[in-house]
Amino acid sequence: MSQQDKRTITRTAIGRLADCKDARFRKVMTSLVRHLHDFVREVDLTEEEWLAAIRFLTDTGKACSGGRQEFILLSDTLGVSMLTVMLAEARAGRGRSSATRATQATVQGPFFREGAPAMPLGADIANGVSGEPTLYRGRVTGVRGRPVAGASLDIWSVDAGGLYDMQSGAEMRARARLRSDDDGRYWFWSVRPVDYPVPTDGPVGRMLGAMGRHAYRPAHIHLMVNAEGYAPLTTHVFDSRSRYLDSDAVFGVRDSLIGEFKRHAAGTAPDGRRMRKPYYTVDFDLRLDSARRSATGRG
Ligand code: BEZ
Ligand code: FE
Repeated sequence: MSQQDKRTITRTAIGRLADCKDARFRKVMTSLVRHLHDFVREVDLTEEEWLAAIRFLTDTGKACSGGRQEFILLSDTLGVSMLTVMLAEARAGRGRSSATRATQATVQGPFFREGAPAMPLGADIANGVSGEPTLYRGRVTGVRGRPVAGASLDIWSVDAGGLYDMQSGAEMRARARLRSDDDGRYWFWSVRPVDYPVPTDGPVGRMLGAMGRHAYRPAHIHLMVNAEGYAPLTTHVFDSRSRYLDSDAVFGVRDSLIGEFKRHAAGTAPDGRRMRKPYYTVDFDLRLDSARRSATGRG
């Protein structure tokens, strides 16, 4: 039968995947068509509304450039990015936090940059950005506590004005790549992150406004850890004092990733640096899952 009605069209569209050779792609597209059609029927979508959605997606694509990824922002603010992080952890048998489990992951976000400057342990990676000086330190280990020497740590954060380097210029600032020492230890100076809004000057910002949502992320620093034999980890350390921990615009908060930023009076910092003004320290260990354990594929 060639003529469709508002129910048979779904089965027919799915049937057109019969010659699809890639079983996974067929499964994904079958489900996508089914859910999309159900959604359209459920809200009784008008042609005008669908055109508005197409215009929105077109604008989202147009807003993407070298320094901006509006589609990642859309995925993040709809909770899809975080959902894929959680599903990846569940697939690898991770997910819940405990002392013997790997550090939990969270969203990467759109502000990671390849090629951050390599810096020695103890360096001040702030590179002149404004903010309260903070000493970050911890240990990279396996889940049983074995030190991971030479782990690569990519770090990035906002300045005191809530901006990433790529939002205010081309230079790499408050961003670096370090390597853990023989005992798995890492330490570096940067600034204390602040709460900041995700970019709101594009289509996703308009969407958040129309939804009646705020755009803020709780203060955090990003860490991406790679080490041979271990599963890569992309995570954050959140500031326990942020007022947005319960309403992160991208749903990325996990209790185990909340750290204490401890304030200290001016004086000699634990790494011997003389501080002429108050500073903060935060301790955060990073436990990596073995690559073998995390490589469990989809059944
Ligand atoms: C971030 O933390 O850098 C971020 C994450 C998701 C969307 C926007 C920013
Ligand atoms: Fe961030």
